[in-house]
Amino acid sequence: MSKAGAMDLATGLGGKMDKSDVLSAVDKYEKYHVCYGGDEEERRANYSDMVNKYYDLATSFYEFGWGESFHFAHRWKGESLRESIKRHEHFLALQLGLKPGHKVLDVGCGIGGPLREIARFSSASVTGLNNNEYQITRGKELNRIAGVDKTCGFVKADFMKMPFSDNTFDAVYAIEATCHAPDAYGCYKEIYRVLKPGQYFAAYEWCMTDSFDPNNETHQKIKAEIEIGDGLPDIRLTGQCIEALKQAGFEVIWEKDFAAEAPVPWYLPLDKTHFSLSSFRLTAIGRLITKNMVKALEYVGLAPKGSLRVQDFLEKAAEGLVEGGRKDIFTPMYFFLARKPLSENQ
Ligand SMILES: C[S@@+](CC[C@H](N)C(=O)[O-])C[C@H]1O[C@@H](n2cnc3c(N)ncnc32)[C@H](O)[C@@H]1O
Repeated sequence: MSKAGAMDLATGLGGKMDKSDVLSAVDKYEKYHVCYGGDEEERRANYSDMVNKYYDLATSFYEFGWGESFHFAHRWKGESLRESIKRHEHFLALQLGLKPGHKVLDVGCGIGGPLREIARFSSASVTGLNNNEYQITRGKELNRIAGVDKTCGFVKADFMKMPFSDNTFDAVYAIEATCHAPDAYGCYKEIYRVLKPGQYFAAYEWCMTDSFDPNNETHQKIKAEIEIGDGLPDIRLTGQCIEALKQAGFEVIWEKDFAAEAPVPWYLPLDKTHFSLSSFRLTAIGRLITKNMVKALEYVGLAPKGSLRVQDFLEKAAEGLVEGGRKDIFTPMYFFLARKPLSENQ
């Protein structure tokens, strides 16, 4: 269960923006998306504004419902959601062979939940790269509380143009973040540039699977719901990510869609038919209570106007994600491990 309370949710809503600007930001954000007349080209061209608005609006809801790590997990039977989330993070650290003293980059780090866990698990120094100011402020505070602020930090920048020299990091990872990139090749190429030769990049990508049929209206609707609910320009196919990695210069060591064989479906916490005390806030009844609480907070002026509409598009996202998962047309855990060769012609 998340440590954030109702007042944290209310005060964090809108992130760094002026509270009186939240309603117009929701308007602008919605207009980027298909259901409100927006199109993919416009989302790509304005990805930075769109994604930042999304995270200013959604971060405190994420922290309230999900905790400090904003990602799904491959889950075994008998494992709690929290345990599975941590194991999902440890798996990346193991795949990357992280060692004490390694300099590691977390691309699109959220408020740093995975960064803190991976730093404690491996004793590596992790830098979180994020374009959202509000998330970085939260992350710094949580790093201080966790006692990892001496070895880990944050850099505010766009992962399409990173402010690091070539060959800086011993390892790079990205968890459910590079799906926000307007083009995968451009983003992977930047990761390739800042990674030392011979070293590894591992990620969990959000992708449409081979079962997705672009001519099927239901599939299209699910994809659009996930895009609006999660601030995405366009969800790529798994094969497109692998192609982009190779084009960027990486050698793909192995890849796997962990959703395909997870003993417990990754979308279970969001499934309205499922009940869990330990992740109560994510259940249908938990979400209904949050909705009414946000409505009341907005009514009395403690939460900014527009808050309820944010809750509405997040609800849409939850429905799209569950349907996408049930139909096996979408995965939030397409894993790959890729290596930057020692030399360009290796
Ligand atoms: C779903 S969250 C995942 C956060 C984190 N990896 C986790 O698992 O907790 C996606 C993150 O990517 C970041 N992000 C999106 N687009 C970005 C960009 N162009 N440059 C840097 N960060 C970006 C967002 O601000 C957000 O922190």
